[in-house]
Amino acid sequence: MFYPLVRQALFQLDPERAHEFTFQQLGRISGTPLEFLVRQSVPAKPVNCMGIAFNNPLGLAAGLDKDGECIDALGAMGFGFIEVGTVTPRPQPGNDKPRLFRLVPAEGLINRMGFNNKGVDYLVENVKKSHFSGVVGINIGKNKATPVEQGKDDYLVCMDKIYPYAGYIAINISSPNTPGLRTLQFGEALDDLLVAIKNKQAELNSYHHKYVPVAVKIAPDLTDQELVQVADSLVRHNIDGVIATNTTTQRDLVQGLKHSEQIGGLSGRPLQLRSTEVIRRLSQELNGKLPIIGVGGIDSLMAAREKMAAGASLIQIYSGFIFHGPQLIKDIITNI
Ligand SMILES: Cc1cc2nc3c(=O)[nH]c(=O)nc-3n(C[C@H](O)[C@H](O)[C@H](O)COP(=O)(O)O)c2cc1C
Repeated sequence: MFYPLVRQALFQLDPERAHEFTFQQLGRISGTPLEFLVRQSVPAKPVNCMGIAFNNPLGLAAGLDKDGECIDALGAMGFGFIEVGTVTPRPQPGNDKPRLFRLVPAEGLINRMGFNNKGVDYLVENVKKSHFSGVVGINIGKNKATPVEQGKDDYLVCMDKIYPYAGYIAINISSPNTPGLRTLQFGEALDDLLVAIKNKQAELNSYHHKYVPVAVKIAPDLTDQELVQVADSLVRHNIDGVIATNTTTQRDLVQGLKHSEQIGGLSGRPLQLRSTEVIRRLSQELNGKLPIIGVGGIDSLMAAREKMAAGASLIQIYSGFIFHGPQLIKDIITNI
């Protein structure tokens, strides 16, 4: 109800400073009785996806709670699932600041954070401590210092450590801010990675007696032909789900706006149509063989419905949450 005022104050600050400030406050109340300050009641809208029961189809997208520090407070706002990360085996500082920009008239963000995170061990401790009754997905990536040819090893190290604590595992091969990462979306590099991941999943499944589904997160900037190839690979390797999409390197819809020339990934409303299109094409290609988690520019109930109509079984928000606050969560879950 009072988010417009909060937003007005936060938007006076540098975007990353606003994020840090908000997270400090949320971190303080997360897991304490003070969570009531952000708690919202939302109706149950159960969905089964990837063999997991979700309380509702709306999740928080990766990148907002990279280290899993505010899972309980964010969960109290009503999300059915929270995807923490991207986390890497070792802590790393990410790119130089400034690295996050608001394109206010377009309700967009450009970021080149570069997987700033405190490392997988720290994240695991936070996930272990959380009491969130929804699903916690853990999104993993590779350290910047790891050559892309050895990137696979970083994903496997993370899988070993997170497996017992993850509701599902998201494989991020689509961030534009880690040099070379997106090349893992193509051809032999993708096949190689998926074989290794499926073998690791099978090994951990028999060790922990628990099957944790694996979803792969893709970019919105793939050509039609590349999308067909990715879909084919995901099906051939029995991947459990696909998350579409990450941020875009395209700038056509924001030309001339302040900050539009910044390097990084663009998210929010300017990404909405492209990401829905990717979901529609993927859905035609996959024909129900694996579920799609739809993300990209969801800023309203209508936009959420469009993603589901295009073929998404679950949806996620990030930028829309920054621009519209917790009310967006309630609107979507109540009416979807
Ligand atoms: C500041 C920022 C950081 C992000 N960090 C990550 C990340 O670490 N891993 C990831 O998979 N996606 C990351 N994303 C992408 C989001 O998860 C999401 O896919 C994208 O922003 C599109 O959704 P949106 O339009 O609702 O923001 C990030 C997005 C933003 C804006």
